[in-house]
Amino acid sequence: MNLFRTKPIRPTDEAGLRRVLGPVDLTLMGIGCIVGAGIFVFTGQAAALHAGPAIVISFAITGVACGFSALSYAELASSIGGCGSAYGYGYAALGEIVGWIIGWDLILEYGLGVATVAAGWSGYVSDALASIGAKIPYEWTHAPGVCTTGPVQQCGSANLLAIGVILALGLLLAAGAKESLRLNAIMVAVKLAALLLFIGLALTRVDPAFWHPFIPPVGLNPAGHTAYGWNGIVSGAAVIFFAYIGFDSLSTAAEETRNPQRNVPIGIISAMVICTTLYMVVSLLLTGIVPFRTLTGNSPVSGALLAIGYNWGAAAVAVGAIAGLSTVLLVLFFGITRIIFAMSRDGLLPTVFAAVNERTRTPVRVIAVLAVIVSALSGFLPLKSLVKVVNIGTLMAFTVVCLGVIVLRYRNPDMPRPFRVPLAPLLPAVGAAINIYIAAHLPGVSWVAFVIWLLIGLCVYFLYSHKHSLLHQPRAPAAELGGR
Ligand code: ALA
Repeated sequence: MNLFRTKPIRPTDEAGLRRVLGPVDLTLMGIGCIVGAGIFVFTGQAAALHAGPAIVISFAITGVACGFSALSYAELASSIGGCGSAYGYGYAALGEIVGWIIGWDLILEYGLGVATVAAGWSGYVSDALASIGAKIPYEWTHAPGVCTTGPVQQCGSANLLAIGVILALGLLLAAGAKESLRLNAIMVAVKLAALLLFIGLALTRVDPAFWHPFIPPVGLNPAGHTAYGWNGIVSGAAVIFFAYIGFDSLSTAAEETRNPQRNVPIGIISAMVICTTLYMVVSLLLTGIVPFRTLTGNSPVSGALLAIGYNWGAAAVAVGAIAGLSTVLLVLFFGITRIIFAMSRDGLLPTVFAAVNERTRTPVRVIAVLAVIVSALSGFLPLKSLVKVVNIGTLMAFTVVCLGVIVLRYRNPDMPRPFRVPLAPLLPAVGAAINIYIAAHLPGVSWVAFVIWLLIGLCVYFLYSHKHSLLHQPRAPAAELGGR
């Protein structure tokens, strides 16, 4: 039983998905996925409960880790090409079982990511509807077990808005990537405009006194837990890591990209640079216009504008947040369908999911099954506490990608590499080390959930995937091996 057999690296398979995406599509798609709940929801909580104004340093640390991981992604995307994300890179570089573990891990990351962001989207939309007099009852906008804390307690029955948005996006994706991405481009413009508006308004009201001390001394946070200091900065980085999830989804689109060797690295790096800059500026201004301890709510960016008297600005930013969360949903959903498609095509998941619809050239079956499962998760489970599991999954996937670059440089030094990580193996090694350091600051309960998911994945692998893998079918024509 050879668990570490690697998938051959071959030129692109032209028979699969339609190649329609260019570098601008990819950059917009990256921003579409990257800028979302992380900045619009979690930044405030990370500042209030973990790092204080030093949340900017948390963003810088995570930005460096993700930047090095992004460069590693870009090298693998340019040299291994369209094989469906970190899953394909892990498979080609480190062997089947490592590829499987990453793929399984990415299903968790993207699946829970979509469900979590849909729950956040539902919160913003129901608040917006309530503000124009169209209030939806609490029980139909929250999952069971999610209750208010006031004197009259209300609890959720099902989050219908979250279920509805996931099903609608499933239909959109089934219709075809390019059509969906056009809508994505408009929404990206709206959310960027909202963040620029925030920056413009906040600049007029900065009070540098709020930045002193910039790194608050270790003490109790508003929730009564010990926070701040250096550990607070790193645990803040672990929380806002969610804000960076998404650039990796660009490599899942490599098979639908024209000239992926050139365009995927350009898309990944441009999106990362734009987003990191925005995050650092927005988080600095956020803690510069209100005391950081007040940023505990679910809508800190619009909430801070309300607190300084810009009511219209707060409303405009809320609209941008809804657009932002919608684009994140779209791209994460796109990413998970392409990962499962790639794993099925390699035989590790049932090949029935590897079929592409003849008319739309999209994997309609995967999209339909996922729309049902993920909308049920989002509608019926309180997912807020699971967001940290998403972060562990992503940190581990990024770490393997960094290590994959190093392994391939030694194992396959002469492979054509149109894009090379500068200073390798130093930068990928530093990227992997920072990722692991950040992951170590996530709570134990998240690690337990993550390990249980991995154990289930190993059972599936040994009971099904290894036996059905195309790599182990003696008569499988080479071209069937997933096109790479
Ligand atoms: N990066 C994405 C967000 O912040 C997942 O919502």
